[in-house]
Amino acid sequence: MTSSSTSKPDVHPLTFAFRCIGCGDTGASAGGNFRCTKCGDLLEIIYPRWQENKPNAMQLKSDWRERRLSLKPDDLSGVWRFRDLLPALDGKAEAITLREGNTPLYELPQCARIAGVPRLFAKHQGMNPTGSFKDTGMTVAATFARSAGFRWVACASTGNTSASMAAYAARGGLRSLVLVPDGKISWSKLSQALDYGAVTCQLRTDFDGCLQLLQELVQREPVYQLNSINPFRLEGQKTLAIELLEQLDWQPPDHIIVPGGNLGNSSAIGKALLEMRDLGLISRLPKLSVIQAEGANALVRTLREAAGKRLVSVHAETRATAIRIGNPASWKKAVHVLEATGGACEEVSEVEIAQAKAEIGAEGIGCEPASAVTLAGLKKLVKQKFVKPDETVVLVLTGNLLKDPDFTIDFHRGELFKGAENVNALSALRRPPIVLDANLDAVIRTLEHAEKEQPETP
Ligand code: F0G
Repeated sequence: MTSSSTSKPDVHPLTFAFRCIGCGDTGASAGGNFRCTKCGDLLEIIYPRWQENKPNAMQLKSDWRERRLSLKPDDLSGVWRFRDLLPALDGKAEAITLREGNTPLYELPQCARIAGVPRLFAKHQGMNPTGSFKDTGMTVAATFARSAGFRWVACASTGNTSASMAAYAARGGLRSLVLVPDGKISWSKLSQALDYGAVTCQLRTDFDGCLQLLQELVQREPVYQLNSINPFRLEGQKTLAIELLEQLDWQPPDHIIVPGGNLGNSSAIGKALLEMRDLGLISRLPKLSVIQAEGANALVRTLREAAGKRLVSVHAETRATAIRIGNPASWKKAVHVLEATGGACEEVSEVEIAQAKAEIGAEGIGCEPASAVTLAGLKKLVKQKFVKPDETVVLVLTGNLLKDPDFTIDFHRGELFKGAENVNALSALRRPPIVLDANLDAVIRTLEHAEKEQPETP
């Protein structure tokens, strides 16, 4: 093991506990499925010590700033740098880190104009080591898997979780088992899991079927599950919000918009916002909104048809394969954070997703299709006047452009919606590759044509 992949955070031991989000029962340990033994609901991590011994907000901000100058591996991690708000490792355990987090906050002036807001930012989680936000949760959960003595870790995945888990398992000397829906994840993500050495099973089912099977597996075998049902994952993913607020000099934006699939990430970001408000790190809460694909809109329907009281599952279908999920495990946690922050939940069409993705790409940023639902959703929320014309918005871009090249190439070649109606809006955004003989005149003619047809936007 190299010293760059493991480190020993000097955390003051803060005790943490597991609390059931349904009946509120609290305990010091969690079973393999991270569900309450009394009522079966999901568990979350809480920090009982904060009640008598609240961490000091000024001190935290100053410690976190100071750690940015440190060369210690755990300070170089954009997750463990915020370890004061994470579960403490016991004395002997070392963190498995790939220097995750530390992701850029980009301004998107063209997309802001398109959406009709004055300031629009993208917090680009696709700039994590394996190209998605999953790494921020995986460093924490994989570390706890190892310190609990597990040899095997496993996940069901639409691709990004498996890529991330396989990498962290490999760095930490653990073996990993991946369950993915056959033919329904991008080759890039599959190739990552293979390269990082996971045992990869392509199951003839969808994501929900893979997750169901994993739940049964962890009851039978000593395998530690690293899906976002695992509350350690969500603690790590909280740091996205902490880092974002630090980048904004602790001035909360009016809105944060995030894609919704299994709904772990929105739950984690919401939890972080509420904790930061309770600890006095921020003085007001941004509204956290969740956007889903129309074909995978379980949370939208849960709120519209059941007022957030019971899950309305759907048979999921979308080209944004990362969020092709019909039975989201963390729906109750997501409903809670939407209500607590006053956020909205919207759905967007396949064409709206493709258009938004190309618009983000045209700013030189790029993201995977699932991430682009955020811009598509923002346009809708502005039209509905939920987002006001003077408000600041942050989009959480969850995955890197390179995660799904087939989608991008099909889009630019005009093959994504071949034969479909109402896709004219997309043609101006397409930049198909042009095949030419190796002839200078032909290249110059192409250049002149492009100058005439696609003048630069001011
Ligand atoms: N964006 C991307 C790029 C994702 O990979 C995912 C989820 C989401 C958004 C949705 O996040 O599930 O926390 O609501 N991907 C999972 C996976 C399910 O297996 O990689 P969520």
